[in-house]
Amino acid sequence: MVWCSGWRLASAVSNAGALGIIGSASMYPDVLREHIQKCKAATNNLFAVNVALMYPDIDKLMEIIIEEEVPIVFTSAGNPKTWTSVLKNNHIKVVHVISSSKFAKKAEDAGADAVVAEGFEAGGHNGREETTTLCLIPLVKEAVKIPVIAAGGIASGKAMAAMFALGAEGIQMGTRFAASIEASGHENFKRKIVSISEGDTMVSLKKLTPVRMIKNKFFEMVKEAENRGASEEELKQLLGRARAKKGMFEGNLDEGELEIGEISATIHEIMPAAEIVKEVWKEFLQTKNEIASLNTDD
Ligand SMILES: Cc1cc2nc3c(=O)[nH]c(=O)nc-3n(C[C@H](O)[C@H](O)[C@H](O)COP(=O)(O)O)c2cc1C
Repeated sequence: MVWCSGWRLASAVSNAGALGIIGSASMYPDVLREHIQKCKAATNNLFAVNVALMYPDIDKLMEIIIEEEVPIVFTSAGNPKTWTSVLKNNHIKVVHVISSSKFAKKAEDAGADAVVAEGFEAGGHNGREETTTLCLIPLVKEAVKIPVIAAGGIASGKAMAAMFALGAEGIQMGTRFAASIEASGHENFKRKIVSISEGDTMVSLKKLTPVRMIKNKFFEMVKEAENRGASEEELKQLLGRARAKKGMFEGNLDEGELEIGEISATIHEIMPAAEIVKEVWKEFLQTKNEIASLNTDD
C-alpha cells in the first residue's frame, strides 16, 4: 500500500505467519532497496514487493528487486505481459492484481503464478467495471486455473471464510492493515480510518484512474470539478503529484487524498499487525467449523 506498507508492516505480517508486502509505489529506487534490506533483517519468513506498474522508474525498481532476490512480486495497475517473464526468468513468483475475469485471463496467459482479484469495495485504485468482490471471485474462478487471492472488503475471519467458500485460495487485506500500529501512514490518517462510518468512502477520479477515498474536502473539490465537466488535464492538476502523500503520510485530512476501502466502517481499533493476523485466522477457523457443523443431520 502506497505510503502505508514499508518494511515494518511487511515484516510484522510475515513474522505473524501471513505474507507481508512492501508497497513500492511511493518509493524512489534507493528507498525501496533500503526497505527490502531492512525487511530481510527483520524476518526470516517470505515477504513480497508490490510494484504498481503505472508509476515511473519501474525498470529501476525491478532491477533492485532482482538484485536483492525478492522471492515474490505483486504487480498491479498495468499490463502483466511486460514484466512477468523477466521476473520469472529470475526465479521470482509473480502475482498480478486484476479487477475483471478478462484481465485475470491475460495475467494467466502472461505466465503469472496467481492473481489477486480485487473488488470494487477495495481501498486505493479500482477497476472501471465496478465489479464487487462477491461477484468477481466466482467469475475469475471460472476464467482461470491459477490460484485466486480475493481482495476488497475483507477485514475479518468471517469474510475470509466467505471468500474460501467462493473458491478463493487466499485473501489480501489492505484497509485493515492500513489501520495497524506498524503501518507507515500518519497517525491522523489511522485515527480517521477507525472513526469513519458506512458511506464515508467513494470512488472518484474515474476520468483518470478510479480511486476509492474518504469523502473529505479534497474529495469535494474533485466532485465539484467533475460535476462541471472538468477536463482530464484539470483533474490531473487538481490531483497533482503529492495529494496522496499529503493525506496519508503527512496527515493533512482536509487537503490530502485519503485512500481507504469501504470495510473501514467496520474497523474500530488501531492494532498491532500480528494481532490482526492472529484474530482473523482464529475467526476464520471458528467460522469454518461452524459452517461444517451446519452440514450434520442433527
Ligand atoms: C491506503 C492504500 C494504499 C494502497 N496502495 C496500493 C498500491 O500501491 N498498489 C496496489 O497494488 N494496491 C494498493 N492498494 C490496494 C491493496 O493492495 C488491496 O488490494 C486492497 O486494499 C484490498 O481491499 P481492502 O482495502 O478492502 O482491504 C492500496 C490500498 C490502500 C487502502
